[in-house]
Amino acid sequence: MRLLSDSIGRKVVMAITGLLMVLFVVGHMLGNWSIFAGANGINTYAEKLHGLPVVVWATRVVMLAAVLFHLVLSIQITLENNKANPSKYAVDRSLRATFAGKNMIWTGLLLGAFIVFHLFHFTIRSVPGMEIVQVQELSGRFDVFAMVAGAFGKAFTAVVYVVAMVSLFLHLSHGVQSTFQSMGLNNPKTMPGFVKFGTVLSVIFLLGYGSIPVAIFFGLIGK
Ligand code: HEM
Repeated sequence: MRLLSDSIGRKVVMAITGLLMVLFVVGHMLGNWSIFAGANGINTYAEKLHGLPVVVWATRVVMLAAVLFHLVLSIQITLENNKANPSKYAVDRSLRATFAGKNMIWTGLLLGAFIVFHLFHFTIRSVPGMEIVQVQELSGRFDVFAMVAGAFGKAFTAVVYVVAMVSLFLHLSHGVQSTFQSMGLNNPKTMPGFVKFGTVLSVIFLLGYGSIPVAIFFGLIGK
């Protein structure tokens, strides 16, 4: 617990928990891409995934812990930085100067709110005032495709998801490079590479996830 009270320790925990979430985001995006193969693609993927309950539950527990640590520490660090003398953070200032860097707490909180909504939407499948398509295929298998297509057929829901993906993009375009810094791996030679890596990765997430609601809304993915 001492790790969580000293400032370097807290940044390392932020970096490790952030990295775990990025790994989840990569895996989830690759899985979601099965929707481009139509209903059978994503329904088979979901069926296979839920056939591995130990993997699903272990991932849920690790992710829940990662999100909670990341959230609590980010709020603590933001409150402390706001109170502290800014000159103490001269090293960080250049990194924080971008729009994404200055708004990490807001894009992070927006993402947190999105994840809660998303869990109620597609996992618990119950959101007050929202109609969620819940049907089964003839085989009796749950039709994830129909649920997702039903959701993104509505402009409002598609826009909510695209806005959330923009906040994911902003959060990670700064967060990935900042992870390398927290790990002490940055120097003038390595930093441009880390910045580029963070930007490329976040653009891949923006397009990789964002393309799903957009493609469904415009009828580009067939059953
Ligand atoms: C267009 C974007 C996205 C789509 C279409 C999508 C789709 C889905 C679907 C269909 C499920 C339910 C899977 C099932 O139970 O079979 C799910 C679950 C989930 N998604 Fe997403 N997702 C998107 C973006 C994201 C993002 C950006 C995150 C995280 C930052 C995320 C985090 C989760 C989590 C935590 C679950 C619950 C997994 C579990 O069952 O434990 N999703 N998503």
